[in-house]
Amino acid sequence: MSTPPETLTLRRPDDWHLHLRDGAPMASVLPWTARQFARAIVMPNLKPPVTTAAQALAYRQRILDALPAGSDFEPLMTLYLTDNTPPEEMARARAAGVVALKLYPAGATTNSDAGVTDVRRTYRTLEAMQREGLLLLVHGEVTDAEIDVFDREAVFIERVMAPLRRDFPDLKVVFEHITTKDAADYVAAADARTAATITAHHLLYNRNALFVGGLRPHWYCLPVLKREEHRRALVRAATSGSPRFFLGTDSAPHAATLKEQSVCGAGCFTAPAALELYAEAFEDAGALDRLEGFASLHGPAFYGLPLNAGTVTLRRTPWTLPDTLDFGNAAIKPLRGGETLRWKLD
Ligand code: NCD
Ligand code: ZN
Repeated sequence: MSTPPETLTLRRPDDWHLHLRDGAPMASVLPWTARQFARAIVMPNLKPPVTTAAQALAYRQRILDALPAGSDFEPLMTLYLTDNTPPEEMARARAAGVVALKLYPAGATTNSDAGVTDVRRTYRTLEAMQREGLLLLVHGEVTDAEIDVFDREAVFIERVMAPLRRDFPDLKVVFEHITTKDAADYVAAADARTAATITAHHLLYNRNALFVGGLRPHWYCLPVLKREEHRRALVRAATSGSPRFFLGTDSAPHAATLKEQSVCGAGCFTAPAALELYAEAFEDAGALDRLEGFASLHGPAFYGLPLNAGTVTLRRTPWTLPDTLDFGNAAIKPLRGGETLRWKLD
């Protein structure tokens, strides 16, 4: 047995799926991301959602204005796809530097009411995206009440993803935050225009984490944590070295008061220790040497963007993540808050 490394240095990574919110809450969570990641794909599910190029430019400017002095973090903007997104908006989006559109099935998750009711309604817009080279990012769950919550991703593959891939072979599609063996197998077998992001929490935890000693709202996200066999399949995919899989935290901050009540919003706040959590997952799989590809190389290659300059270093230093952090005028509880983490970002 070789001794485990004390430090781990990676090319500066990116977060390919992030919720920043807006206003004062955004200003408090943004530094956590900007200290680790050079770029992040910023989700458009604000209230109201970011649906036009002009709104994306304005949101981008609010993010830049909220950055800590000296930060060179670059937000990569997305639009929220609706049944009525005009195809003509795609050229404007491209010109504004928007990189992708996000497909939320209507009602699938937090702030998705304006989402797509039937993908066929968006086909003219998808054609325009394909022409403009914009990516499609997909929340891959059906929303039918009859389908068991734990099966919604698998059913989505057969009902939505497979027809979409058949009808738009040239569109680059990211199956966001995959949570099942079904999705990992689907993406591994798909062509080179299909990829997936995987969160740290889905690599580290199975659905038992939701019920340890009582109901745990801070572990509740969508798609919800799945069985252990699925977690293992995600770890195999993330550590396989395949360029189809890359880092997307889906860090989704909600005020603690909104998580800790009778109806709790979906979303895990992982940004404060994102890289540390991924490093634990990769180390437990004996694959620390694969983390750089997953975190720093595969995403830019898929998006057609340059690799980042510079590096980040993680050190094997046990430390306790604070239980509570600032969230505008409210408090927020990060995932693993109050617990010891194995790695610490320099
Ligand atoms: C996200 C949020 O809070 O915006 N929640 C989550 O559980 N992941 C929305 C999403 O990405 O599904
Ligand atoms: Zn998300």
